[in-house]
Amino acid sequence: MKYKPNYARDDTKIGRGLKKFHLSKKLIVEIKTRLKKNKTLRILEIGCGKGIVLLELLKIFGNKLELYGLNLNRYHGIKDKKDLIINAKDKDIILSDFDKRNLPKISFGNAIKLPYNENYFDIVISNVTFVHIKNKAKALENVYRVLKLRGIAFLQLDSYMTEYTFKGKIPGLYTRLNKKYQKNYLPRFMIGKECIPIKDFSKFFETQGIKIKVIRAPFKDKLKEGVGYAVIFWKSSDMLKFNLIYDKEKSERLTKFMRSKNPIVYGVIDVYKGKTNY
Ligand SMILES: C[S@@+](CC[C@H](N)C(=O)[O-])C[C@H]1O[C@@H](n2cnc3c(N)ncnc32)[C@H](O)[C@@H]1O
Repeated sequence: MKYKPNYARDDTKIGRGLKKFHLSKKLIVEIKTRLKKNKTLRILEIGCGKGIVLLELLKIFGNKLELYGLNLNRYHGIKDKKDLIINAKDKDIILSDFDKRNLPKISFGNAIKLPYNENYFDIVISNVTFVHIKNKAKALENVYRVLKLRGIAFLQLDSYMTEYTFKGKIPGLYTRLNKKYQKNYLPRFMIGKECIPIKDFSKFFETQGIKIKVIRAPFKDKLKEGVGYAVIFWKSSDMLKFNLIYDKEKSERLTKFMRSKNPIVYGVIDVYKGKTNY
């Protein structure tokens, strides 16, 4: 049977608002600061689910923000504009007629090929979506592409499983992984046989002179607790390039293997050909 991601089975996984976005306070401060110099800002959310974060931003900032959302397909929270109004109501976000004229523009597509022009957005955000993206390196390159120069990205990239979650369940795989990361780690990003923890992502950016902050983001819900990672980076050049080739077959095989060992594993694991160049 074809694997269906948890968010496509459970409605509560696509309706998180600002409160459940680890970077929301920093985001709000950044928007306020930028609005002192700019009349309007253009913001994109990748994997916007039901659009709750975007609707809350609309409620706070009104037509000062031009809001865009992207989902992989029409069945992940919003089929059309009417759904945005229903979703707002469900979360007690009261929209005025004026707000309704400025509803976020929702598109459907894959983050690895963002359907927007380059240098288009002041801010790109994302929450609990990168774990589901196949070829995260390409998606990050795309985020960088669509940002304006000096634009900023606030991305929750991953949640990293605790020992508690995995206790004794995947020893076979661990013996093949880089020893350094055996403990408590769900490999999410591998180059050949080497695991690159999300907290080391900064190196891909820093070697290209791009400023990035990696932020530890602990989380806890009914099933699991752990530490997530989020990043904030600033566009300061034309391009971000990972120089990695996504290995679709190996990625799918490893993801399937991990899920067979522990059904709690969600999202996908990326395997790339190439070498770390940092
Ligand atoms: C777990 S939901 C999170 C939704 C919302 N951000 C939240 O936190 O409630 C993941 C979302 O990412 C979107 N998504 C998954 N893979 C994607 C991809 N490759 N490109 C764009 N969106 C993707 C899905 O459509 C879905 O809306």
